[in-house]
Amino acid sequence: MSSTLSDSGSGDDWAGDRDALADILAFHLEAGVDVALGEEPVNRFAESEASRAAPSTAPARDASRPALTRAPASPPADEPAARRAVAPAPALLSPAAPPPPDVAALEAREAAASAPDLDALRALLESFDGCPLKHTATRLVFADGNPAARLMLVGEAPGREEDIEGKPFVGRSGKLLDRMLAAIGIDRTSAYIANVVPWRPPGNRTPTPQETAICLPFIRRQIELANPDILVCLGGPSAQTLLGIRDGITKARGRWMAYDTGRRVIPALATFHPAYLLRTPLGKRMAWRDLLAIEAKLAEKPDGA
Ligand code: URA
Repeated sequence: MSSTLSDSGSGDDWAGDRDALADILAFHLEAGVDVALGEEPVNRFAESEASRAAPSTAPARDASRPALTRAPASPPADEPAARRAVAPAPALLSPAAPPPPDVAALEAREAAASAPDLDALRALLESFDGCPLKHTATRLVFADGNPAARLMLVGEAPGREEDIEGKPFVGRSGKLLDRMLAAIGIDRTSAYIANVVPWRPPGNRTPTPQETAICLPFIRRQIELANPDILVCLGGPSAQTLLGIRDGITKARGRWMAYDTGRRVIPALATFHPAYLLRTPLGKRMAWRDLLAIEAKLAEKPDGA
């Protein structure tokens, strides 16, 4: 395999280079690297403004670091130092610059609380700019299934297929989830499915604690508005975030816990994430027990009772 890409070689050379390039891209895709992005969005407006505003003697900014903070403009010489320290530079406030995480989490709480129903919540999320993941994801992945279902399942965050389709759990792990639910007579007309984080993290990385904290008020409100009888957390991160536990999933799974929706307290169960079961088929035996426990819990209070 050729290791360089030359544009001066013969047609055969180019065909070899092209094959090598295709191999490299295929390797990256298989490894989950399917977007050419950094971990966080880079505010190029602020960067170019900053380099124009900076005195020529200033040390060069590390261009590889994302510009997430609002860079201060050069203050007039007679401006009080105290004000200089806090005043933002209007010229550098790009509309794309996300607010700091604590501000975004506060905005998320207020926005989520204001949603009177699930449609309004989805619309609020569509227009919410506080989570940086929104800007790297293709689209919002809000929910799938029946919002009136008695059973609600919540995963961690969308993956590649979900990001493309705009629905949770439609990829390989979603197909396994469908088969698992079918084994206890449930499909997407009798379950409501969402994620703690509704935007795909780049390259399927784990959402950061800040991203999760920003999204948490929305999923809490989503659960409250859907008002299910039973909540199932798929995987450790979902269980830790929603149920406030520290245990890993192997310890936490299969135990009924209480979840306060804001309207009432409902039973909640953590079980293995289907992606884990794809990698660790031995876990399916315990997942099956959890499914039977869910079936029994649903039978305790039949529809309309
Ligand atoms: N994993 C998740 O946690 N959620 C999805 O929607 C897909 C995969």
